[in-house]
Amino acid sequence: MPNITIAIDGYSSTGKSTVAKQLADWLDYVYVDTGAMYRAVTLYAMQNGMIENETVNREKLIAALPYIRLDFQKNENGKAEIHLNGKNVETDIRHLDVSEYVSPVATISEVRKKLVEQQQAMGNGMGVVMDGRDIGTVVFPDAELKIFMTASAEQRATRRYNELLGRGDAVSYQDVLENVQERDRIDTSRADSPLRKASDAIEIDNSEMNLEDQFHTILQLAKDRIAGRV
Ligand code: DC
Repeated sequence: MPNITIAIDGYSSTGKSTVAKQLADWLDYVYVDTGAMYRAVTLYAMQNGMIENETVNREKLIAALPYIRLDFQKNENGKAEIHLNGKNVETDIRHLDVSEYVSPVATISEVRKKLVEQQQAMGNGMGVVMDGRDIGTVVFPDAELKIFMTASAEQRATRRYNELLGRGDAVSYQDVLENVQERDRIDTSRADSPLRKASDAIEIDNSEMNLEDQFHTILQLAKDRIAGRV
């Protein structure tokens, strides 16, 4: 069977990574969580004094980019986890404080250029499922299957809130909702690679869908695309 590239884009907390991971496991494809890469760069900025008065110091971060090394390594369960300069930061990057600064960091063109190049190299020649905001529009404009996931901001905030509570983070629903809305605003309005549906992407609103329905819908689309290329 031929390998294809599957791009899954959409708003934050639409469950993109859950379905992308399931799909990659089922197809035995490589899975790349590009949001984790933007989050790890943000964590680096936070840990190295590049956030001043709640603002990201763009110049300092751009100057430090050559010293930021990101890679994914599989843990004992076979799950790929992100490493920042050799240290596993998979848990640290999910905290709400990282979520608050990641969208401004993702507006920086130099950051995007570095990460997009790395993402394109990861997909090269292999079956890949990649999720993010600009995969179908910028990273892999020729991807054989493009999915654009949406859900209401309230639905997404509720999911994210429950996830953070489950991890033991003390957060309020209102703060999570505001973070989701603020990230939507920045992600869709930035000048470089704004979040938008590629013209050939299939839109899936999963507000009322359970995980299983969503997985089977996208798996069927993937199977059709794979068969179509044989
Ligand atoms: O998918 P996520 O919520 O972990 O992504 C975190 C942020 O990173 C999101 O607010 C926008 C940014 N991002 C991006 O700009 N481009 C991508 N391909 C992936 C994420």
